[in-house]
Amino acid sequence: MFELNLDISHFLDSCWQKKPTVIKQGFIDFEDPILPDEIAGLAMEEEIESRLVYKTDNKWKAESGPFASFEKLENDGASLLIQAVDHWHEEAQTLVRPFRFLPNWRIDDLMISYSTPKGGVGPHIDNYDVFIIQGLGKRHWRVGDKVAMREFAAHGALKHCEAFDAIIDVILEPGDILYIPCGFPHEGYAVEPSMNYSVGFRAPDQNDLLSSFADYCLDSNEVPERYLDRAMQLREKPGQIEAQELNELHRIMLAKCQTPDALIPWFGEMISEAKHDLDIAELEQPHSTKEILNFFEEGAQFTRLGGLRAVYFQQLPALLFINGEQFSCEGFTELGHHLCDQDEVGSELLELLNEDNSALNLFTQLVNLGYWYAI
Ligand code: SIN
Ligand code: CO
Repeated sequence: MFELNLDISHFLDSCWQKKPTVIKQGFIDFEDPILPDEIAGLAMEEEIESRLVYKTDNKWKAESGPFASFEKLENDGASLLIQAVDHWHEEAQTLVRPFRFLPNWRIDDLMISYSTPKGGVGPHIDNYDVFIIQGLGKRHWRVGDKVAMREFAAHGALKHCEAFDAIIDVILEPGDILYIPCGFPHEGYAVEPSMNYSVGFRAPDQNDLLSSFADYCLDSNEVPERYLDRAMQLREKPGQIEAQELNELHRIMLAKCQTPDALIPWFGEMISEAKHDLDIAELEQPHSTKEILNFFEEGAQFTRLGGLRAVYFQQLPALLFINGEQFSCEGFTELGHHLCDQDEVGSELLELLNEDNSALNLFTQLVNLGYWYAI
């Protein structure tokens, strides 16, 4: 169980999305939830996104996994990075939990890196907020101010930024956390063999939102409103698009998302979809509702699958969005929300599940989909 040693209210008021911050001993007596060898094992898997970053002849190199061997990690100056480890490793996944003081929908994934001395990915800027936790070893981090900065490809798959003056210059030790808001340049190089855990927070930008919403509209069966101009008058200037015509085009576009509520199904499905594969275990045989009740009666706890995204909207409480799909919790919203709010559930649900068949059916369905499992 990882517990954050942090005054969260103070952090939110003073640091979150405002300034890079070192949280010295954010985890007291930190123990790595995963070994470097396990990291290497994950990097051998086809469905897991991994990268190896190193330098040869002073030139940056980046290779994508899967990898069959790791000679590069026998030398100094190399880093192996694995994306979405929370999807694949049960203990590593628990490192995301202390950060759920921020909402589920903002959490992206847990990236883990293993670096040999001097290893790092070079100076760069991320489009997301990140908490970088130091595990094994020590790493020297520099963070610069958020100013307009030139970015360039140091290698095909490695975007760097120009050199910057440091506003933070620190050597992280096991259990220390470096919080870097979106847009602040940073670079970190291992002082000794080093494990780093990055809990990232995604925030869509206007283009992400518009393109995803447009895709959703294209996929829907709704007949779209088309521009009409029945009141057309004789025109003197055929080259001109008149102001009232542009107003009408604008009205048609906005009509699709006139109220925040109109965004709900699209945004719920989009934001609850995992960006990386989930490690869904196929059940040999689906569980019956009776079996599920038995599990609870015997005191079993159920945990949400690592990386599974589950959210609901304040405006529409009877609908859950889980892994890109909608599930109704009409009549048992308390239980539905509890599933989204908690990483683990147990006996506190027994009474509710006993009383409400629809709730039991839903939970059984979620277990049979592999989204929750008994531990
Ligand atoms: C790393 O762990 O090497 C990269 C973390 C980051 O800079 O975002
Ligand atoms: Co970064």
